[in-house]
Amino acid sequence: MDKIVKVSRDTLARAAQIIREGGLVAFPTETVYGLGASAFLPQAVARIFEAKKRPRFDPLIVHIARWEEVGELCSVFPPQARLLAKQFWPGPLTLICPKKKEVPEIVTAGLSTVAVRMPSHPVALELITRAGVPIAAPSANRFGHVSPTRAEEVFSDLGEAVDLILDGGKTPVGVESTVLLVEEERVVLLRPGGIALEELEKVVGKIEIGGKEESPLSPGTLKKHYAPQVPLYLFKGKNEELKELTENGIVVLAPFPLDVSRLKVRVLSERGDLREVAAFLFSTLRELEKTSLRAIVALPVEEKGLGRAVMDRLRRAASGWAQIKAGKLILVDKEE
Ligand code: TXA
Ligand code: MG
Repeated sequence: MDKIVKVSRDTLARAAQIIREGGLVAFPTETVYGLGASAFLPQAVARIFEAKKRPRFDPLIVHIARWEEVGELCSVFPPQARLLAKQFWPGPLTLICPKKKEVPEIVTAGLSTVAVRMPSHPVALELITRAGVPIAAPSANRFGHVSPTRAEEVFSDLGEAVDLILDGGKTPVGVESTVLLVEEERVVLLRPGGIALEELEKVVGKIEIGGKEESPLSPGTLKKHYAPQVPLYLFKGKNEELKELTENGIVVLAPFPLDVSRLKVRVLSERGDLREVAAFLFSTLRELEKTSLRAIVALPVEEKGLGRAVMDRLRRAASGWAQIKAGKLILVDKEE
């Protein structure tokens, strides 16, 4: 476990040097932990794909710490992108714009666009600044697994494949950044995330909803993603129906406290606050998958604010849905 180091002046300096020399450093952002390499060293970026077992067609987000770095990455930064960045950077928003030819193909998986984000986590900003280069970083999980919100989770997924893991504690937002494609004429939502659609629309007006199931616009938003090892089923039914149910081997994952006595329930937020639900979703899934439970039955949340990102992740994590028929819980697997 000596890969995991507490953040300090010394460990930050070491991490920055590893990045400059073509190594891999996992670091906290405000959303989830990222697995970083210098965006301008293609061999280093190749190691990210190997470490995660991530398919090469899935492009990475490039993290920056200064405005000038936009100019090193993007050939065009449309006015709408400027407005959004001004309002929400540093923060959990990723903007996709046409790339400069200097950005290595492996970073963008051969696309003509590049995804850019300025994170707000002080450790991420300090690491990028000290490394002196933009850092390409996907979430620091094994491909297809739940994103890590703690340093130990990075280690358990990637272990020896990472050179250093900077431990900055639990990441506060807990779901990944919102990803937007920004063109001259339109803005398209490719992945709901840490900044709510409603907030973004206040700045640029109507945003198209894209990135549905395996859309070629966002190769990484695969239908089956974020899968925990204990199968998860989305509950389709009324919460009252759970009241009379007795069932062993399952846990109900609830966004707010539930009035049931015979079921095991895991409450994500005592106050039913969507921010808390998002913040604890991934870490709770990782905890539950270490148990010998048969299934996780997740209650849906309202699709507004951060609820949109939460539902997106739950749908992708789900093996199917759960319903109650004649007083019994039925788990239905979705067709592949
Ligand atoms: O919060 C986050 O965004 C975290 C932290 C580490 O910053 N990163 C993250 O990266 O979630 P990753 O690789 O797990 O997800 C990046 C998403 C993928 O769905 C990918 O397909 C999409 O962004 N993406 C990246 N570049 C793209 C591009 N040029 N066009 C379309 N989609 C792109
Ligand atoms: Mg990811």
